[in-house]
Amino acid sequence: MSEKNDKQNASSSPRSQQWSPESYQKNAAFVAELGLPLLDLLRPVPGERILDLGCGDGVLTEKLAKICEVVGVDASPEQVQGAQALGLNAQVMSGEALTFDQEFDAVFSNAALHWMLNPDSVIRGVRRALKPQGRFVAEFGGFGNVAAIREALERELDRRGIDGAGLSPWYFPAPDEYRGRLEAEGFAVDDMELFDRPTPLPGDVTGWLQTFGESYLAAVPDEERDDFLTAVREALRPVICGEDGVWMADYVRLRFAARLQA
Ligand code: BEZ
Repeated sequence: MSEKNDKQNASSSPRSQQWSPESYQKNAAFVAELGLPLLDLLRPVPGERILDLGCGDGVLTEKLAKICEVVGVDASPEQVQGAQALGLNAQVMSGEALTFDQEFDAVFSNAALHWMLNPDSVIRGVRRALKPQGRFVAEFGGFGNVAAIREALERELDRRGIDGAGLSPWYFPAPDEYRGRLEAEGFAVDDMELFDRPTPLPGDVTGWLQTFGESYLAAVPDEERDDFLTAVREALRPVICGEDGVWMADYVRLRFAARLQA
């Protein structure tokens, strides 16, 4: 996957992802678990009001809610319903159109920003949502994230005469690019790190593809979909499945802590 493609992807309009709570819980429970270290970087304290941007089914939001007041937002009504079922204050809202005004001490986001293809709208909304000197602490897919999986998907689509490159629903920026965007909106960046985090999957890669790869799968005719999934899985087997049979998604994380300058 070239940098050029990543930049093109940031402005394309792939089909939006639908979330099935069952599929998410079965295939993506690790998302919240692996987000726990981000809470250390956030350092929430009692009395603070925090916005969880892209709260998903609320598993991490619930941990935050034990410490401080937290509001969760997510573009998916199904995910918000899941969060509300945990008793959380959660609402449906696009991260690209946040409506808050100087209400939060911090904005927190785990594994969500890469689904938002207009990063400047997101950062502007976060700036508006924060009180003066508020913090923005987040982790998401960075440059090179799931490159092997994307390549296998796109190669198999190409083989079927479908242009896979334009179908990515994700934005995976390099640190310098994202730092520049944050600074342009008045943030000072205290920490920013891009690191590999190979992530063991609960089963083979098929569950991951079905849970997260809707943009690609939707391009394949219904009757070919099983065959397509099998072909992608087998192309990936020598690349991301270990001798122990454990499938590892080739995750690359971009993690940062920034604060609004006075
Ligand atoms: C991620 O957390 O990096 C990710 C999850 C699903 C699809 C793409 C990336």
